[in-house]
Amino acid sequence: LSAGMIALGCSTALAANLTIGFSQIGSESGWRAAETSVTKAEAEKRGITLKFADAQQKQENQIKAIRGFIAQGVDAILVAPVVATGWENVLTEAKEAKIPVILLDRGIDAPKDLYLTSVASDQVKEGRVAGEWLVKTVGSKPCKVVELQGTVGSTPAINRKKGFEEAIAGQKNISIVRSQTGDFTRAKGKEVMEGFLKAENGGKDICAMYAHNDDMAVGGIQAIKDAGLKPGKDILVVSIDAVPDIFQAMAAGEANATVELTPNMAGPALDALAAFLKDKKQPEKFIITESKLYTPADDPKGEYERRKGLGY
Ligand code: AHR
Repeated sequence: LSAGMIALGCSTALAANLTIGFSQIGSESGWRAAETSVTKAEAEKRGITLKFADAQQKQENQIKAIRGFIAQGVDAILVAPVVATGWENVLTEAKEAKIPVILLDRGIDAPKDLYLTSVASDQVKEGRVAGEWLVKTVGSKPCKVVELQGTVGSTPAINRKKGFEEAIAGQKNISIVRSQTGDFTRAKGKEVMEGFLKAENGGKDICAMYAHNDDMAVGGIQAIKDAGLKPGKDILVVSIDAVPDIFQAMAAGEANATVELTPNMAGPALDALAAFLKDKKQPEKFIITESKLYTPADDPKGEYERRKGLGY
């Protein structure tokens, strides 16, 4: 670690002259962009030099960036892993170089000793909260659901699907009739939803759209409008993230529910790192952020404004 490390007197203080590498997935969604700006702000607040690498949604770019950070001898590495598999070799290299790695917002399938901690939401719970909202909202009415999945092989796509399916299991009136990836982007969400609408009687047979993130939901909402239907009324819209744009859609009556994912993963991550560097305090292996449901009853205009001040 840097020779210039100075403890700053409180448990969350980090050392001066600390350099941290951050391998970010890309900028596929509004939530992702917010996570990037919050991470930069949290680093700056603590006097950390943050080396930022945007992987343009490609794991190979992330692996290259992490190898670069190791070669530069950074003090720690933050990584938001695009997919769950394929991390063992590069994280073993970081471990051998004695560089602590912290996972942000997505998980990996690899031995737990390859990272210091993981700061993420309970993604199965997010899917479950979305599914439970739908179960409660439709009651006993028949409901055909179309699902816009996140990036194939990513933990939020796998887990949000699982949680939603758990919530609707046993509800004979609710079924997922179409499910396809929209890669967490607005453009692909729209494109995939256009296909679903065509395949399901112009959308007349669809009761709800479940999107693994708000950006795909916003794309899907546009597709529903283009098909001459009313999103939020003819087709219920439920998604995850709670970004400002979904509150705008809610205020306009075009979205019905979202599950919040905080963009501030870096705050708890850097606090855990500070305690580890200062006192060798091992953090919890999984630091879980909250998953709160928002509906139009929760002052969407106010939530929109509030989020605009949070780094979105
Ligand atoms: O890993 C978190 C997910 O990644 C967010 O829900 C989504 O918007 C982003 O692309």
